[in-house]
Amino acid sequence: MAKTVMITGATQGIGKATAILFARNGYNIVLAARQTERLEATTSEIGALGRDALAVSTDVRDSGQVKNLVEKSLAYFGHIYVLINNASIFFMAPVEESSLSDWQQIMDTNLWGTFILFSHSYPIF
Ligand SMILES: NC(=O)c1ccc[n+]([C@@H]2O[C@H](COP(=O)([O-])OP(=O)(O)OC[C@H]3O[C@@H](n4cnc5c(N)ncnc54)[C@H](OP(=O)(O)O)[C@@H]3O)[C@@H](O)[C@H]2O)c1
Repeated sequence: MAKTVMITGATQGIGKATAILFARNGYNIVLAARQTERLEATTSEIGALGRDALAVSTDVRDSGQVKNLVEKSLAYFGHIYVLINNASIFFMAPVEESSLSDWQQIMDTNLWGTFILFSHSYPIF
């Protein structure tokens, strides 16, 4: 049975490249990100490689959505073999041009989003 990899932020950049690489090496993929059109496009690309992909629209800042991601993944594949906690936002600007809201977004996504997914998924490993 093929092993399953869950990748957040799997619709572009490093996350998408990683998803394609795992699919080429025989893994099934759970893809999570917010933008459904990109999720669907990446799912199709993985399907064309002959692997099974489950796309779950998820904002990693939202604990309820992340719980749903884990539950749907387990219901569909039965296991998660590898978790790649990749979803994040990159922000670069002079301090005087950045706001507290900008920093809040970064912390909520890059820090708390990572912890939220760990907290919902560690029991399954
Ligand atoms: N690219 C580089 O050269 C580089 C170098 C060093 C480190 N990194 C780090 O590697 C990671 C990925 O970089 P990248 O360049 O591949 O980023 P990217 O191209 O901007 O892709 C980010 C991914 O994360 C998703 N995402 C963002 N916010 C999300 C949220 N709240 N919930 C769920 N998904 C979310 C995006 O999809 P949606 O918008 O659809 O949600 C997208 O799929 C980042 O942590 C980055 O800081 C990158």
